[in-house]
Amino acid sequence: MGAVKGLVLSGGKGTRLRPITHTGAKQLVPIANKPVLFYALEALVEAGVTEIGIVVGDTAEEIREAVGDGSRFGARVEYIPQSAPLGLAHAVQTAKPYLGGSDFVMYLGDNFIPGGISQVVRQFQEKRPDSLILLKAMPHPERFGVAELEGERVVRLTEKPEVPRSDLVLVGVYLFQPSILEAVDAIEPSPRGELEITDAIQWEIDHGRSVLPHVVAGRWIDTGKMDDLLECNRVVLDMLPERREGRASEDCRLLGKVILEEGSQVIGSTIRGPAIVGAHTRVVDSYVGPFTALYHHVVLEGSEIEHSIVLENTCIRGVSKIEDSLIGRDVVVEKSGTRPLAHKLMLGDHSRVSLA
Ligand code: DAU
Repeated sequence: MGAVKGLVLSGGKGTRLRPITHTGAKQLVPIANKPVLFYALEALVEAGVTEIGIVVGDTAEEIREAVGDGSRFGARVEYIPQSAPLGLAHAVQTAKPYLGGSDFVMYLGDNFIPGGISQVVRQFQEKRPDSLILLKAMPHPERFGVAELEGERVVRLTEKPEVPRSDLVLVGVYLFQPSILEAVDAIEPSPRGELEITDAIQWEIDHGRSVLPHVVAGRWIDTGKMDDLLECNRVVLDMLPERREGRASEDCRLLGKVILEEGSQVIGSTIRGPAIVGAHTRVVDSYVGPFTALYHHVVLEGSEIEHSIVLENTCIRGVSKIEDSLIGRDVVVEKSGTRPLAHKLMLGDHSRVSLA
């Protein structure tokens, strides 16, 4: 048996995170100031999977630039361009030459499993099923692929069923023997026009192959939607150790766990952690509340913000108070100070604004 390879899926459309994903890959949205995709790569390496193929689509360049050759993760990364986001099973078909005859872990690049995947990779290597799928009981299972079990056996999988027959959903991590390649070639596109990995695994069940479930004990977060992203940010900020690589003036109050990244400056402000201030970000006369991540080169002046993620190069001035928000790159939010006291907006397509 050769080494298990990794296949990370980072193509796709990202419609649920618009407008953020109009201009960037959803897999690069930062969680506690680190792209969500990096957590996937780290989880693979930690599990001993260091040969990793990343399936890329329209945002290939951006992903290549962020990840490079993988050496800084301790991995060897290759890129696999997918012609169009035609489904997870299509991505596997596309990756066939890369995979060769290897076993592989498929990891959806916008998924996050705080507990890692080392244990399940070991389980796969010991039991050698054709496929091993990760499951988690979730509210609203109809938003996902849903599994039905009989004891230790998976008997049926349905992609986004109208009426789910269980609350166990497919977490975006799968372990496969090369026999899955036959299944992905045998299936037809689903009603949403995609070649579904869910249908390929069902094909395996129908053809007497062994498909084992592994119910994830800890948390799992699909970061494809804003609320889930904020939740993920909250969970990760809670886990991180404190770091003080930036500077805070003496008149600041830093309470609880506050991470100041390199070159950041905090002046005349209160930060109540857990919170992270990114590299070269300036916080002046402001309040930053718990579960907030300000990415690099952000300016926050005379403002209050809490439980939010702010992406790079954004400037917020004289605004109180921002909560439960995801604010994109190069955005300006400021108090105009001129009459009439009206909201003056220039919002991109698919923006969402809730005014007090
Ligand atoms: O998040 C878990 C769910 O992921 C599972 O419960 C479902 O069974 C599974 O089908 C999948 O559902 P989604 O509809 O949420 O998948 P999405 O289109 O968001 O794609 C997941 C990742 O794979 C995302 O990072 C983009 C990438 N992708 C997607 C497609 C369709 C590709 O790289 N190529 C593709 O063709």
